Amino acid sequence: MDSPKPVTPTLFVGCAGHAPGMHVKARTERPPDYPERFPVPDELVPWEADYPGYHPPYYVAPVVLANDSTVNPKGWADPEDISLLAQIPTESMSGRLRHDSAGRPLNPAGRTGMAGRGLLGKWGPNYAADPIITRINRISGAVEMLAVQRKDNGQWAIPGGMVDKGEEVSGTLSRELREETGVTLDMGQGRLIYRGYVDDRRNTDHAWMETTAKHLHIGPEIAEQMDLKAGDDARAVRWLPLTPRAARNLYASHCSLVTEALAGMLRLNPFGLSEEDLRIVSELVRALRNEPPR
Ligand code: BGC
Repeated sequence: MDSPKPVTPTLFVGCAGHAPGMHVKARTERPPDYPERFPVPDELVPWEADYPGYHPPYYVAPVVLANDSTVNPKGWADPEDISLLAQIPTESMSGRLRHDSAGRPLNPAGRTGMAGRGLLGKWGPNYAADPIITRINRISGAVEMLAVQRKDNGQWAIPGGMVDKGEEVSGTLSRELREETGVTLDMGQGRLIYRGYVDDRRNTDHAWMETTAKHLHIGPEIAEQMDLKAGDDARAVRWLPLTPRAARNLYASHCSLVTEALAGMLRLNPFGLSEEDLRIVSELVRALRNEPPR
């Protein structure tokens, strides 16, 4: 059985070319309004490693404070005072969580150089869902992914989004796909690729992204009938040819998620690809993993 992975080193392999299992964006990148992150060298990422001089700046974005659901009934964020939370998270898709002396949940991938919640509303895990839709372009022969250009930073991305309160992840996958691309597909038919921690530039020591990614590869007839329409959160939507360069430039951990999706297609052929199509996908996976072409 080819089971989906919880937080595993493999999520970080194949794209960024850095130490497996280490978050990098969460230590070296930040949205423009974040203060500068406190430096965290590779060997001091794990919480077990002693780092007596570690004093990360504390940041919570004004938009998060304004959405405190204990004050604002339409708000999507937790209260800033964690003791007001009905329940402090004790586990996430990454497993059991540890907490600091103030009772705040700690990032399962280790230090980020930033305390507080930053732009994330929830203390601990903030859940997203990522529908990965691929096809092979019959004219160019390229593997393509249905991608949106994000408004926040202009990067191309899987048309994913946050799981709404009380929503099932399977519902989020189809809803986000529809809202961001105009496409309706039953993501229940998709193959589960990953559930767990995501290396995202918004992550902090106390709040981080976790996602559920599902993959659906569609044939040319279905793809041709699809009318693409960028939603509110997207600047543009298109079938993005997955060159190694385009894949590496995808948002957050999306390159790793897409590589996993394509590699899974080679192992199991769940969507019944022809020999020729499998060869195309195999070349791409080799290139994404920096392996020489066969
Ligand atoms: C995005 C997802 C992404 C997640 C973690 C969400 O805001 O919509 O596509 O996987 O953040 O980076």
